[in-house]
Amino acid sequence: MQAKDYSATETLRSGLAIEIRALRPEDRAGLLAAVGRTSDQSLYRRFFAFKRSFTDQEIDFYLNVDFAGHVALVALLDEEGRPVIVGGCRYIVVQPGQAEVAFAVDDAHQGQGVGTALMRHLAAIARSGGLKELIADVLPGNTAMLKIFRASGLGIKAEREPEATHLVLDLS
Ligand SMILES: CC(C)(COP(=O)(O)OP(=O)(O)OC[C@H]1O[C@@H](n2cnc3c(N)ncnc32)[C@H](O)[C@@H]1OP(=O)(O)O)[C@@H](O)C(=O)NCCC(=O)NCCS
Repeated sequence: MQAKDYSATETLRSGLAIEIRALRPEDRAGLLAAVGRTSDQSLYRRFFAFKRSFTDQEIDFYLNVDFAGHVALVALLDEEGRPVIVGGCRYIVVQPGQAEVAFAVDDAHQGQGVGTALMRHLAAIARSGGLKELIADVLPGNTAMLKIFRASGLGIKAEREPEATHLVLDLS
């Protein structure tokens, strides 16, 4: 399956089914709605800044994903019969073989295993895309994100810097 057509279904610990699939251009409204439901603290942990509004150029950047140098997945739960985006993750290749990853799950759906499931699928896509390493910066106190990386089974090098912990995850 090509990354742009990626789709998988998982069952969360709660028994709920979640779809993890490639981001599509028509996800604009769903993605913005998910951002709207996400707390300031979560957005800060994602963007390293108090960021709630986005310019059209920024939105285009997040939506126009080529599934080569920039890969994005969304997680959808069924709510009253319609799929709702509750989280997403992406990687952007920053140098040959290495990509930076970022994750976000809206607050109401955190702690249910969505982030863990997203990581599993993103790592699989990265590996089949020939990447060797994933990198991430994680703010102090972001236990959930650190747990997800540690539970991924990938080798991890962590460098504590004053602002954030810089992680290098080995896909080989
Ligand atoms: C980080 C984030 C993506 C994790 O997603 P999630 O769906 O909540 O993660 P999971 O439910 O898979 O939880 C992963 C682990 O963290 C734990 N966890 C979840 N929320 C936690 C919290 N607030 N404090 C401590 N541990 C937490 C879970 O219990 C789980 O551990 P376990 O497997 O031992 O039970 C989500 O919390 C988020 O969007 N945070 C804001 C944005 C962000 O931090 N992005 C990362 C920048 S790279």
